[in-house]
Amino acid sequence: MANPVTTAIDPELCTGCGLCLTVCPADTMTIVDGKARVTGNRCLACGHCAAICPAGAVGVGEIDPESLRFASFSVEPGWLPPGCLAPAELVRLMASRRSCRNYRETPVAREIIADLIKIGTTAPSGTNSQRWTFTVLAERDEVNALGNQIALYFERLNRLAANPLLRLLTRMVGKPALADYHRNHYRSVQKSLREWREDGRDRLFHGATAVIVVGSRPGASCPAEDALLATQNILLGAHAMGLGTCLIGFAVAALARDVRCRKHLQLPDDEPVYAVIALGYPREPYQRLTGRKKLLVRFPSSPGGTTEA
Ligand SMILES: Cc1cc2nc3c(=O)[nH]c(=O)nc-3n(C[C@H](O)[C@H](O)[C@H](O)COP(=O)(O)O)c2cc1C
Repeated sequence: MANPVTTAIDPELCTGCGLCLTVCPADTMTIVDGKARVTGNRCLACGHCAAICPAGAVGVGEIDPESLRFASFSVEPGWLPPGCLAPAELVRLMASRRSCRNYRETPVAREIIADLIKIGTTAPSGTNSQRWTFTVLAERDEVNALGNQIALYFERLNRLAANPLLRLLTRMVGKPALADYHRNHYRSVQKSLREWREDGRDRLFHGATAVIVVGSRPGASCPAEDALLATQNILLGAHAMGLGTCLIGFAVAALARDVRCRKHLQLPDDEPVYAVIALGYPREPYQRLTGRKKLLVRFPSSPGGTTEA
């Protein structure tokens, strides 16, 4: 069912320039008697019309004015045109973000986490659905409790994977996941579980003091993409704010498969998890940027235009 249209145009301010029509992806407005008017019954509430209007005549009720108000810094409301920010600084920030696997004990204030989530949601989303969800553990004890649930899940999984007959049978019925898991992860997980139980060493969240679980409610056209784009924004924002982060794929796997882990976080059944972000203040400073492996880039229309790694 379509959402009600919450875009409104002030006829006193509208000059009828038509720019709002040009950028609207849903044909929400038309020009009537020389002024823009909301005539469509579909609107993404994306705010392009409000962003482009030279007269400031457009408002979108569904947009939360608090979404760009941050507790720990303030943002100029003026739009930055393409090309106005030094790419070198942006790339330096992006390449300086590294997965942090050693955190100080200092907790991250809730306001800072709330700011980070707002930074996350400046990301695009399919049809602007913004169905992403953020479940936050802001205390080290809570992170440990989730770590414990996930450890229980992997202990059960490792018990199954240790059974050669079960591995063989599941493979024979076309389900090789258990045998693949045994080959690729069983030993390292077993070692991490031992360290967790015997030495209290946190190989899962690396001692992070907070965790953000990124999921999606039903109704999104591209839930995984939306959640992961918001996640990347959070990682970059965290680095800019002096924080370290690490994506925890093992936690995503547990939250995808284990009902007990999901119940622990009170996640609704219809809310898949796409990312788990470990968060905290990093222990070690790094010295330099490194880089990535060789790329594979294709330009299919130009012969010989493929660069293979
Ligand atoms: C989907 C995904 C899952 C990951 N899961 C884990 C994880 O469970 N534990 C961990 O320590 N790092 C995890 N990482 C971090 C990667 O190992 C890391 O991004 C990669 O080695 C590159 O290093 P960098 O992030 O410092 O640039 C994950 C990264 C991604 C993208």
